[in-house]
Amino acid sequence: MHTFLYRTNSLLTFVASVLVVLCILASITDYFHRDSAVVAVDIVQVDRFQVSQAGNDEAFLAFNISADLRSVFTWNTKQLFVFLAVEYATPENAVNQVSVWDRIIERREDALIALPRVQNKYRLVDQGRNMRGRDLNLTMYWNAMPKSGRIYTGQKTLTGYRLPDTYS
Ligand SMILES: *[C@@H]1O[C@H](CO)[C@@H](O)[C@H](O)[C@H]1NC(C)=O
Ligand SMILES: *[C@@H]1O[C@H](CO)[C@@H](O)[C@H](O)[C@H]1NC(C)=O
Repeated sequence: MHTFLYRTNSLLTFVASVLVVLCILASITDYFHRDSAVVAVDIVQVDRFQVSQAGNDEAFLAFNISADLRSVFTWNTKQLFVFLAVEYATPENAVNQVSVWDRIIERREDALIALPRVQNKYRLVDQGRNMRGRDLNLTMYWNAMPKSGRIYTGQKTLTGYRLPDTYS
């Protein structure tokens, strides 16, 4: 009986040690992991561009989002939080950053994204009336939540977008 308890205990200790080592290994291999993410985004249409009731510029855009983030996944990845941000500079704010689309991805095969037309999910409103003819960056960000270890983040900035000179 004593022997049995003793053996159970040492077996559990052994299993726990193995788990700890696996977690450390997972974190280390994740640390050296580099993804080869592919991201392509287009503004396919400006659906509406106007001054909101509060007196600020507001844009309603349609995006074409293509991304292959499957390489971000490792055996230690629990899920990805992915979001697309519109970024621009105005005389009032050096950095304006508005999230326009996001998604939680739990499986590697779902990290191949092809959305030919999505409208901004959150309002794209300026703090003022500075958006006409404004240059934009579109940055895709991804945060990989690990099963163990630290969060891995990545991003890809695409430049060369511009809002129209006139409201519509
Ligand atoms: C847009 O991206 C370019 C290149 O990464 C960067 O130099 C510039 O500061 C960015 N502009 C804004 C407003 O974030
Ligand atoms: C969306 O982007 C993909 C890849 O860049 C392209 O093949 C496709 O034709 C685009 N679709 C639209 C509606 O612009």
